[in-house]
Amino acid sequence: MLVLDGKLAAAAVKENLKAETAELVKKGLPTPHLAAILVGNNGASETYVASKVKNCEETGFQSTLIRLAADTDEATLLQTIESLNQNPDIDGILVQLPLPKHISEEKVIKTIDPSKDVDGFHPSNIGKLVQGLPTFIPATPYGILLLLAHYQIATKGKHAVVIGRSNIVGRPMSILLSSNIPQGNCTVTLCHSHTPNLKEICLQADIIVAALGKPEFVTPDMVKDGAVVIDVGITRVDDATAKKGFRIKGDVLYDAVAPKCSAITPVPGGVGLMTIAGLLKNTLQAYQNNRG
Ligand code: GUN
Repeated sequence: MLVLDGKLAAAAVKENLKAETAELVKKGLPTPHLAAILVGNNGASETYVASKVKNCEETGFQSTLIRLAADTDEATLLQTIESLNQNPDIDGILVQLPLPKHISEEKVIKTIDPSKDVDGFHPSNIGKLVQGLPTFIPATPYGILLLLAHYQIATKGKHAVVIGRSNIVGRPMSILLSSNIPQGNCTVTLCHSHTPNLKEICLQADIIVAALGKPEFVTPDMVKDGAVVIDVGITRVDDATAKKGFRIKGDVLYDAVAPKCSAITPVPGGVGLMTIAGLLKNTLQAYQNNRG
């Protein structure tokens, strides 16, 4: 059983990006610049955004973190995005989700200039993804593709089962795995909360991507011997014995499932770290598209 180490694979991606950025600096050119907007103070979002900013620094990118209060009105957020759209020094814009309930995520995503939409969430970018056209691949599915590539996991002709149909992970992942790309060409089944025979479908899977956000949902009785299991779950579960008062749990019951797998991602240390690698690659891509 191979542990798909996101830390190792992400470090390899970041080394390449760092070298490309160093070349820009040598030529006296500006470096890629990511702007992140965080509304409110959701603990998990704070951690993710801080990690994105830190990874930009480590790669030699510029980053700007814009923090807005939880009661910021929608119009103010949209104006903030508009001004970043107009700013030629900004290559990529991301608004950390989820947003407070009084703000429409749909409006926010549609306001981001698609050429700076390094999350790949804008409808025009998702449309391109569906049609197999060049675009920004949403960071988590992108990270998974990079991880599969790093470990040379064969996907062509395999049956991939994706659990969860979110716009951020499950749906784009299902489209990518079915696409004619190096880490694609799978037959894909996309399962969700209304799938009645989930266990039977999972048992047919060569590759399972668990992205439903339910801790330890995937159990060994759902997994075929030799399957590849990709765990996207990162739920905080209260644990008084842990230093921070919580533990991060994946969507897979790791200790019981791992022995059945040919390869599996741990949580933490798997997909989460790859997500940032995907975001950084998109930011460099935006820079090259817009001012390269
Ligand atoms: N919240 C959870 N995942 C993501 C992501 O990939 N991008 C943004 N902007 N917010 C998220």
